[in-house]
Amino acid sequence: MELTLYGRPNPRQAEFFASTAAHTAYGGARGGGKSWAMRRKLVLLCLGYKGLNCLLLRRTLPELRENHVIPLLKELGDAAAYNATERVFRFPNGSRLKLGYCDGANDVYQYQGQEYDVIGMEEATHFTEEQMRFLTTCNRTTRKDFKPRMYYTCNPGNVGHGWVKRLFIDRRMEDGERAEDYAFIPASIYDNEILLSANPEYLRALESLPEDMRRAHLYGDWDAMAGQYFREFSRQRHVIAPFELPRWWRRFRSMDWGYNDPCCVLWHAVDGDGRVYTYRELYVRQQRADQVAQSIIKLSGDEEISYTVASPDMWQKRGAILKGDGFEGESLAELFARGGVPLASADNARIAGWQRVRGYMADGADGKPMWQAFDCCENLIRTLPMLMYSPHNREDAADGEDHAPEALRYGLMSRPNKSSIKELPKRRAYDPLGSTRPAKSFMNQ
Ligand SMILES: Nc1ncnc2c1ncn2[C@@H]1O[C@H](COP(=O)(O)OP(=O)(O)O)[C@@H](O)[C@H]1O
Ligand SMILES: [Mg+2]
Repeated sequence: MELTLYGRPNPRQAEFFASTAAHTAYGGARGGGKSWAMRRKLVLLCLGYKGLNCLLLRRTLPELRENHVIPLLKELGDAAAYNATERVFRFPNGSRLKLGYCDGANDVYQYQGQEYDVIGMEEATHFTEEQMRFLTTCNRTTRKDFKPRMYYTCNPGNVGHGWVKRLFIDRRMEDGERAEDYAFIPASIYDNEILLSANPEYLRALESLPEDMRRAHLYGDWDAMAGQYFREFSRQRHVIAPFELPRWWRRFRSMDWGYNDPCCVLWHAVDGDGRVYTYRELYVRQQRADQVAQSIIKLSGDEEISYTVASPDMWQKRGAILKGDGFEGESLAELFARGGVPLASADNARIAGWQRVRGYMADGADGKPMWQAFDCCENLIRTLPMLMYSPHNREDAADGEDHAPEALRYGLMSRPNKSSIKELPKRRAYDPLGSTRPAKSFMNQ
């Protein structure tokens, strides 16, 4: 049997083919030929090595079908046998190429315990960092003639923008990551002559996009952040060095509960102008309610905390973990109350809540934002700018690593609307008794 693979790689695609780094990303502009290169690379590996086990992933099934199953069926002809139920291409030399998707946050766990010599993540920025990390644990091999590898294609924007940019563009490595394991090949639509000559309207469509989307999709500019939910968030303006908080400032906490997902607790203080400072965070995984309550109490020390708002579902969710993965017993809210942290139910109106956050990110009368975070709130600062617009609702934020932003939203929803802060009577310059401050009411001082 003879297989003729049509098309020759353009120079960027050739670089992608040649890379043998543990992690190779091909990213940037749309239409540069990334998906083509990913498909072709995996097929070439399957043909080149006997018995190779490859996995190609996309976020959703329709995308997988359109982008890979149909083109692969066409490109491979009878060079590989396709099993549609398993979604596996089997090559005569024993190699297999499995195609998968991870629609829900937990769908990656179906690959638990499996071993793939090569994993390709198409549109890697559509995957969360947790999903990527989990998949790297499946990228292993027992063979001597092959080092396991991951290949990524990516466009700027979406929930995975942060980790792709950190690893491949900014190259800010964290524990256990080695810079030499990460190779990045920038894609430009101008590399893809075939597309440019066959479909010049596509280029014109990209050129006429709004500025930041054009920068992201046409030039592959990773700073443009197409789809970022909080564009107003600025490290310079919203993140400050910790300072001693006056004792008379009101303090409160907010929590987004999670067990397998992170659980985030934020501590906030309010100054006399209604400005909110988020001064501490707790960000933990796989801790029981009583353990989290204990940490909250310990971190709070002798601070006087007025109240703690938390997701309303904590009154429905059970807290005790069964041997399987179910939960039983008292509600999480009850467990927290018993652990010494009574909770108040947060206002969970999402769009209004995000609007409230936006309102607080805006400047007050003195030209300073009405909300700021101490620089020790690392996870909040890291994940706020990563929040993306939801593909399903133009006003909402997408799911992703949103536990700290959610906790912030609950917290600020317990505060007055920023527009009403503006209407407060102006305080006199000297106000020792604070007599011009408005009357306090629960949670809305
Ligand atoms: N080297 C190539 N030879 C033939 N066709 C190609 C080549 N590279 C890309 N194409 C075609 O160009 C179009 C855009 O490529 P694609 O891989 O979908 O881009 P991207 O994933 O970067 O948006 C597709 O129709 C693809 O088949
Ligand atoms: Mg593509």
